[in-house]
Amino acid sequence: MKFRIRRMTPDDLEQVIAIDHASFSLPWPERSFRFELTDNPAARCWVAEGEDGSVIGMLVLWLIVDEAHIATIATKPEYRRQGAAKQLMDYALVSAVDEGAKSAFLEVRESNLAAQAMYRQYGFVATGRRPHYYKDNDEDALLMTLEHLTL
Ligand SMILES: CC(C)(COP(=O)(O)OP(=O)(O)OC[C@H]1O[C@@H](n2cnc3c(N)ncnc32)[C@H](O)[C@@H]1OP(=O)(O)O)[C@@H](O)C(=O)NCCC(=O)NCCS
Repeated sequence: MKFRIRRMTPDDLEQVIAIDHASFSLPWPERSFRFELTDNPAARCWVAEGEDGSVIGMLVLWLIVDEAHIATIATKPEYRRQGAAKQLMDYALVSAVDEGAKSAFLEVRESNLAAQAMYRQYGFVATGRRPHYYKDNDEDALLMTLEHLTL
């Protein structure tokens, strides 16, 4: 495995926020990451480390009873297409199953074909639409669901 997956710590926040800003037109405010990391008991926050120990990817999952909600996932642009996001997904989903998750879901921009392709590899299927979900361009979100989460 090229990358090491581990739980996020407060020391990672600067790098995580930089990845978030490089990846999304509506990045989360720093306080949101801090909240997930320190105050949200449902949140499971993961990072991928490169060989030099720097953070090259992150994933936040909310585990609510037996449902896993992928809240965000991104990898550093210069490290994409090297399997880091799939490694993050593997760890986060296996860990969620260990904790009792039976299904998973997420929202993704309708135009984000790269992410949708990845989610389909895991068996997620589009099951709904959230109209005007993204406030920057009024884009719809597709709701993608993985009904039977077994890994
Ligand atoms: C989506 C994202 C997390 C994928 O990260 P990554 O590290 O490149 O992903 P991986 O190398 O593990 O590849 C995972 C799969 O995603 C899909 N994928 C990734 N980039 C793709 C692209 N440019 N075109 C088509 N499919 C793509 C493929 O199915 C790929 O599997 P494959 O390499 O076996 O074909 C990354 O592109 C990213 O950070 N994008 C910006 C943030 C974002 O859109 N997050 C998702 C929000 S819902």
